[in-house]
Amino acid sequence: MSSIRCIGICTGGGDAPGLNAVIRAAVKAAFLKYKWRVIGIPDGFDGLIWPEKSYELTLKDVSGILPRGGTILGTTNRGNPFRYCTVENGKEVVRDISDQVIANARKLGIDAVITIGGDGSQKIALELFHRGMKLVGVPKTIDNDLSATEVTFGFDTALATATDAVDKIHTTAESHHRIMVVEVMGRDAGWIALEAGIAGGAHVILIPEKRFTIVIVAEGVKLPPELSENRRAGAVGNLIGNAIATLANKEVRVSVLGHIQRGGSPTPFDRILGTRFGVAAVDLIAQGSFGKMVCLRSGRIEAVDIADAIGHLKIVDPHDQLVETARSIGICFGD
Ligand code: F6P
Repeated sequence: MSSIRCIGICTGGGDAPGLNAVIRAAVKAAFLKYKWRVIGIPDGFDGLIWPEKSYELTLKDVSGILPRGGTILGTTNRGNPFRYCTVENGKEVVRDISDQVIANARKLGIDAVITIGGDGSQKIALELFHRGMKLVGVPKTIDNDLSATEVTFGFDTALATATDAVDKIHTTAESHHRIMVVEVMGRDAGWIALEAGIAGGAHVILIPEKRFTIVIVAEGVKLPPELSENRRAGAVGNLIGNAIATLANKEVRVSVLGHIQRGGSPTPFDRILGTRFGVAAVDLIAQGSFGKMVCLRSGRIEAVDIADAIGHLKIVDPHDQLVETARSIGICFGD
């Protein structure tokens, strides 16, 4: 018999379409299947640093949120309780306030926590688990770069958005005989670039996993030293676009898709995956399986130790079947 009466749920790192599907599923399964209360922890772990920010989530709170992008709980990619930055007497100080976070969870009556987040959030989750917090993880990122799970929710929506943008950019490219550069997200992994490039009919795909050049550029792509000097987020597409314009003496236009890829209503795939993950996380808590993260393997929901899941980023293998498929239809990878 489970000793759980109340669980907490939080979302950390960048927002991704499908977060609300996980929250909704977890609240519904906790309430309807196990009769547990659920506390929403706002803005990553901030709601445990300032417990007065946390509040009870009811079925009413999660009604109608399935098609909504973002997260009703709010999120942050700062606020790591093990390296928490504050300003004291005008000086920046870094403190470990994890004990305070764990004590505040107890004060709120939370018996176990579901943390929905990417590699960084799962690393924090693992450290909290090692300090005694009962916790399960749900993987999230539009980058789809977590090796422990075949797919993360959010990726399918970001891919649909990027593909739609490439479709629309084709119109101007064709009409004006221009070279068009589209920079997509993905951090150090080229999955959005590779798949949007294939789905959107790109001629050239530049991904971080390959050494170098157009049309779909993953933001993490490696640049030759002469282009790297002015590198910063959102500038890679422009650097490449300018270089092509100079070398090819052609008109080039650049579109940086940015956070549009993280926004909008989740696709049905992401809603369903989010729902499956949310229910599975609640079931893990009921079984007393803490320190685990839910994942998708061969189409089935499974669980892995968070310790085994973090730190192994899934990047594009240059010999991946999808890369070979793209090459077979004449897509160039800049090599
Ligand atoms: O990890 C998701 C992601 O959107 C990456 O693709 C991107 O590099 C990063 O987050 C951007 O983060 P921020 O919103 O903090 O600029």
